[in-house]
Amino acid sequence: MAVPQTGIFALGTAAHAYLELDLTRTDDAGELVSALAGLAAGRPTTGAANLVVGVRPELWAQVAPDAAIVGLGGFTDPVVGQDGFTMPATQRDAVVWVAGPAQDVVFDRAVEVTTAVAGVAELVAETFGWTYHRDLDLTGFVDGTENPPLSEAMGEVVAPEGAPGAGGSVLLLQKWRHHWADWTSLSDAQQEQVMGRTKVDDEELDDPPETSHVARTDQADYGHILRRNTAYGTVLDHGTTFVGFASSRAPLEAMLASMAGVAGPRDALTRYSTPLTGGYYAVPALSDLERFVEPAADD
Ligand code: HEM
Repeated sequence: MAVPQTGIFALGTAAHAYLELDLTRTDDAGELVSALAGLAAGRPTTGAANLVVGVRPELWAQVAPDAAIVGLGGFTDPVVGQDGFTMPATQRDAVVWVAGPAQDVVFDRAVEVTTAVAGVAELVAETFGWTYHRDLDLTGFVDGTENPPLSEAMGEVVAPEGAPGAGGSVLLLQKWRHHWADWTSLSDAQQEQVMGRTKVDDEELDDPPETSHVARTDQADYGHILRRNTAYGTVLDHGTTFVGFASSRAPLEAMLASMAGVAGPRDALTRYSTPLTGGYYAVPALSDLERFVEPAADD
């Protein structure tokens, strides 16, 4: 049975790091996958940290063509929507998401990751994330309510048994800067029209506007995804790291186009928040990564 990377589903982690890596030599995709496999596969249950690794889809397909999700490619072109609104394409060769109970644990694991890939890949971007009042994002709304429950999530966001890439998932990682002053100048009622949900009770509005975030990303229209977003940043510069998993790229891509207003109204949330980065990653099953773990010298 294909075993997905378990960190995708881990709960109760207050501290996070997203480490974006680029190959230092372009012909080392196999070595990079081996290094990442060594980090992700065979992790002990001690150590208090989860680790999820993602590989640029084209590199994963090159190294493991039999285990690649069909039709999955990287974020190579920006998504351009209404009024010149643009979601930039900042695809990297790999990403490692480290999550744990506290920043010290996550920092130590993050350093270990960069040491493990040294000589093959370099850390080109890093974002440290944290949970805000447990389930809120920095808009003050509960984020994640309409996620599938864990009992269903695995069936919905990993490629099914028997399909190419079974047990693997697709990650969209996107960093969004929030515009605090503009957002907080709105009343709660106005913010609720932007989101399409109530702020305190976290209920969907009876008739959410077409431009509301929940209308632009309605999973009944676009398919189901699992969001593991966190807050990032400081008082001067902060926002949401969007961390979305799906069994293929299609629902994520369709939601981005819908939010940008490529063929319809633009998501009102994009007036208060700007995407700074965007990359799609193959998140292979642990059982596929295991094939690439280099035996230890004394094995
Ligand atoms: C600044 C960035 C973002 C923020 C702050 C944000 C916040 C939220 C909030 C507060 C909700 C309502 C509660 C919930 O169901 O979780 C929500 C719903 C949702 N968001 Fe986002 N989101 C962001 C970006 C995105 C992006 C980029 C996507 C897709 C690629 C997305 C997909 C969804 C989906 C699928 C839902 C549930 C819709 C439904 O009701 O079926 N979000 N988001």
